[in-house]
Amino acid sequence: MAVPRDATSFDVPFDIASVRTDFPILGEQVNGSPLVYLDSAATSQKPRAVLDAEASFLSRSNAAVHRGAHTLAADATDAFEDARVAVAAFVGADPDNLVWTSGATAGINLIAYSIGNASLGRGGEAAQRFALDPGDEIVVTESEHHANLIPWQELAARTGAVLRHIPVLDDGRLDLEAAAGIVGPRTRIIAFPHVSNVLGIVNPVDELVSLARSVGALTVLDACQSAPHLALDLPGLGVDLAVFSGHKVFAPYGVGALYGRSEVLEALPPFLTGGSMITTVTLEAAEYLPPPQRFEAGTQPVSQAIGLAAAVRYLGALGHDAIAVREASLERRLVAGLREVAGVRILGDAAGVDRVALASFDVDGVHAHDVGQFLDARGVAVRVGHHCAQPLHRRFGLTATVRASAAFYNTEDEIDTFLDALSGVRPFFGASA
Ligand code: ALA
Repeated sequence: MAVPRDATSFDVPFDIASVRTDFPILGEQVNGSPLVYLDSAATSQKPRAVLDAEASFLSRSNAAVHRGAHTLAADATDAFEDARVAVAAFVGADPDNLVWTSGATAGINLIAYSIGNASLGRGGEAAQRFALDPGDEIVVTESEHHANLIPWQELAARTGAVLRHIPVLDDGRLDLEAAAGIVGPRTRIIAFPHVSNVLGIVNPVDELVSLARSVGALTVLDACQSAPHLALDLPGLGVDLAVFSGHKVFAPYGVGALYGRSEVLEALPPFLTGGSMITTVTLEAAEYLPPPQRFEAGTQPVSQAIGLAAAVRYLGALGHDAIAVREASLERRLVAGLREVAGVRILGDAAGVDRVALASFDVDGVHAHDVGQFLDARGVAVRVGHHCAQPLHRRFGLTATVRASAAFYNTEDEIDTFLDALSGVRPFFGASA
């Protein structure tokens, strides 16, 4: 859900000073200056509620889930499954449609390997709808981060499928006209980002889902950069499968979630196998539990899942509308401010598109790493490099950019501090015209 572009930060109450005290790290000093954290797209900061939830579980309720008959194990199992309910609700889904993973990369690999297993004949009759034959096509976009690209390259290599891509236009939007020519009867999977981690543009999910449905292709949504910012309704978006990472939504590392429509999860064969995903095991063979447990072999990231549930409850208490309105204000300040800095070129500076508060840019005459170091010396943390999206950088004729990415806990003053510092970069490096 995008925020109206004319919304202001005064539309809903949001006590930013109080919110910031929920995040202990935001009070830190870096290199003698107050930390200005503009690297939330790489990893978000964690509120005390998340830190406390994990610590409380580990210090009072820790036990093996789904494996013990004692009271502590039952309590731990209840907490773990309550977390699933909360995180599923966060994306508008039922708990049975939410599989724990260790993160988005693991989620996409899970999907790709499950489809690979179906292609080897595993999973019986029901799984055959996913089986790929040589010449079948997997479609991604030119804007993928590597997590939503390399697993598909590997699946194509294993099955003989062909990997194709939807190009990105000069202004950063996906070329939907080209997409209509690329997606065809051999397309079996379309995997795409909800929001590019480099461009910040919200992609038109409806149109891509319609296109996929017109040819019977499976849709896989990479929601890594939308889950921290947009109120998600994954069933409402109509995608077949989606993934996101906990650490980008203010939660611990090592946990993430895979959403799948029931008929898709029920028909997919497992990827990882072992304990906790079976019903009956003999020395020769095993029968598997229904989803979501079919995809959760071995010990799960239990305390991290409980931390993720605490994060989504925290976001719910703040209110998605309030968060969206605040972030729209930050996004406008960031993008408008970057456009004013001499020698700065924003990648994907399309007008009139929905975007999150994230922008990557090139500074004429100064290497991205030098820009990052200059900003860091003033306490401003940004990401520099290819942001795990080399093909997209190549498409824009670059090897590296600087990325500033905000979250609801940032302030307009911090954006201004960043922009002021950035204005000093080219003069400092003697790159001014
Ligand atoms: N998704 C990670 C980032 O954008 C790679 O920083």
